Amino acid sequence: MPGDSFYITTPIYYVNDIPHLGTAYCTIAADTRARFERLRGKDVRFLTGTDENALKVARAAEAEGKDVQAFVDELAERFKATWKEFNISYDDFIRTTEPRHTTVVRRFVEKLHESGDIYLSTYNGWYCVSCETFFTDDELKAGPEVSSEVNEGRPSCPNAECRKDVQWVEEPSYYFRLSAYGDRLIEEIEKRPEFLRPDSRRNEVLSFIRSGLNDVCISRMQTWGIPMPESIPDSQGQVVYVWFDALINYVSATGYLSENSDAASLFDRYWPCDVHLVGKDIFVRFHATFWPAILMALGIAVPRTVFGHGFWNIEGEKMSKSKGNVIEPVQLARDLAKSSGCEFQIAVDAMRYCLLREVAFGADGDFRRAGLIGRFNAELANDLGNLLNRSLSMLHRYRDGKVSGNRGGDSALRSVCEAALPEVGSAYADMNFIQALARINEIVNEANRHIEREAPWEKSKRGENESLDFLLTELLDTLQFVTVALAPLMPTVTQKIWEQLGEPVPFTELRWQDATRWGDLSKGHTTRKPEPIFPRIDKTDVKGSAKTVEQPPSTTDPQPSEKPTITFAEFQKMELRTAKILTAEKVKGADKLLQLTVDLGTEQRTVVAGIAQQFSPEEILGKTVVIVANLEPAKIRGIQSQGMILAAGGEVPLALITPDRDVPTGAKVR
Ligand code: MSP
Repeated sequence: MPGDSFYITTPIYYVNDIPHLGTAYCTIAADTRARFERLRGKDVRFLTGTDENALKVARAAEAEGKDVQAFVDELAERFKATWKEFNISYDDFIRTTEPRHTTVVRRFVEKLHESGDIYLSTYNGWYCVSCETFFTDDELKAGPEVSSEVNEGRPSCPNAECRKDVQWVEEPSYYFRLSAYGDRLIEEIEKRPEFLRPDSRRNEVLSFIRSGLNDVCISRMQTWGIPMPESIPDSQGQVVYVWFDALINYVSATGYLSENSDAASLFDRYWPCDVHLVGKDIFVRFHATFWPAILMALGIAVPRTVFGHGFWNIEGEKMSKSKGNVIEPVQLARDLAKSSGCEFQIAVDAMRYCLLREVAFGADGDFRRAGLIGRFNAELANDLGNLLNRSLSMLHRYRDGKVSGNRGGDSALRSVCEAALPEVGSAYADMNFIQALARINEIVNEANRHIEREAPWEKSKRGENESLDFLLTELLDTLQFVTVALAPLMPTVTQKIWEQLGEPVPFTELRWQDATRWGDLSKGHTTRKPEPIFPRIDKTDVKGSAKTVEQPPSTTDPQPSEKPTITFAEFQKMELRTAKILTAEKVKGADKLLQLTVDLGTEQRTVVAGIAQQFSPEEILGKTVVIVANLEPAKIRGIQSQGMILAAGGEVPLALITPDRDVPTGAKVR
């Protein structure tokens, strides 16, 4: 069905190393989008794979004393195994050493030779093996300054994410006439705003092109790689440049130019690709310039969207082997499962959730284990886990688990879900994961508050059966919405919730619109007994039985204003914002202090608060509080505190100031 297909790709990953957090991030994002598109009924093709013909791959194999092909075979399996653990639902996995790819690459070279788009010359310039990229002298000079300790004065790669040594290369080489495509590229970029995303990166590409494009080498004198076609004169002993080879995977995997007609039909069905998802380091030069120009030269349509996501740092530092801080995703999920006591597959989902929830897709992020655990506890174990548990427990306690299906009347919760569905859908379609997830979390919170307000336990005591049935049904309906809305991101968690809800529609047949198709939980239908999906965290009883706050000493009784009047302008200098507490722990050796990580929507901060004697870390986790966001940072017990939490009380904090209804994290307080 034309218009109903959806083709999404990740970069193909170099197999000089095992998968890490960065590659997992991109793959999880692509998987989430692919699952979302499948949910809304699209004919999806999701491609990932491995980039195997690089010099650095051959060097990595040599360093381990292994045969290169055997080495890449082994690593390609590692990638597949990791993606399996992460529930990555790819439809195809392409390896660039496969004949279905190598033949297409060679045909491309021949076609470009026929059309006059490639020519023979000599390359004299720099090459970065780590980025597998050619750089001119000017580009090297324009690169960021590098500290002398890193490269000891040797020329280094201008790519800020790399900075490794570059080497001088002089060899005969075939060049692609990239310089001839600048105007057409600019025209395409300006005509279609959705072509290059996010918007901020589009300008970077435009200035790169406007500064003048150089022709690009497409062949190299080396042994490992796809040999240049025999028909190309004076190319003996050369292989195809790895980036030219790698980019072609996106079409070779669709069977383009294949003699097998079934394979070839994929091209007609799925091309042009809907989204190429790549990291910012390979966006400008390769995916937004070189690749579309190659396609233009061959008369093939360019992709609809190329999206450049940001980079993760690890605990404030660049992720790198030399720093020893490279995060292996499967190991991280194991650690999370162990520390939180949940199943491995639940930890995988939690990681998927946290990675896409943490920073705006496109922006850089700082990965912190404490932040991951905080988010997991606050939004999954606490908010979502509680809603599921309480709703099903009450249904079992009061109604033997049977759903009355009483929808006689207007439900505020159902209306909120109905209004949110298109918003969440557009956010997913826009790769705005943070917005989709924030909206879903707001609804979970709203449902939890609804339980408090409506106090079903009171209704039961008073025998208000109709109203109790109505409430229990609207809670289950909200869970139905939340489950479908989170299904693209958390396949295991949502399937488990779905099964506990006892929904008649099989999980595998779910459609996006089912989120608000009320009534499937028909009268008399029985739900399962709740089984905690996330480990329960120690939380103060909502009715306040567990914690007692010390009575205030008499000196904290209301006092007349003690401070001089300030002007409105003075007040306005203060930036007050709502912030969600993601982690909280006692500061060692300081019995009054808690160290908190708080989320301001756009960033996370560390705040040290003198509330440890009145509030336990568990009790305040997940709470939304108000912070003075522009207070000068201060070092408290060696910890840099970036803000102050507002609390009522004098010397002794008696209560934290929290908003009385749901507001977005980071909202201004006026
Ligand atoms: N083989 C090329 C891609 C060819 S696509 C035709 C390549 N491979 S890679 O293995 O080095 O990188 C793959 C992806 O991982 C890139 O999109 C890169 O941006 C991403 N990341 C690498 N480190 C990262 C972080 N620290 N954070 C987020 N993504 C990062 O490049």
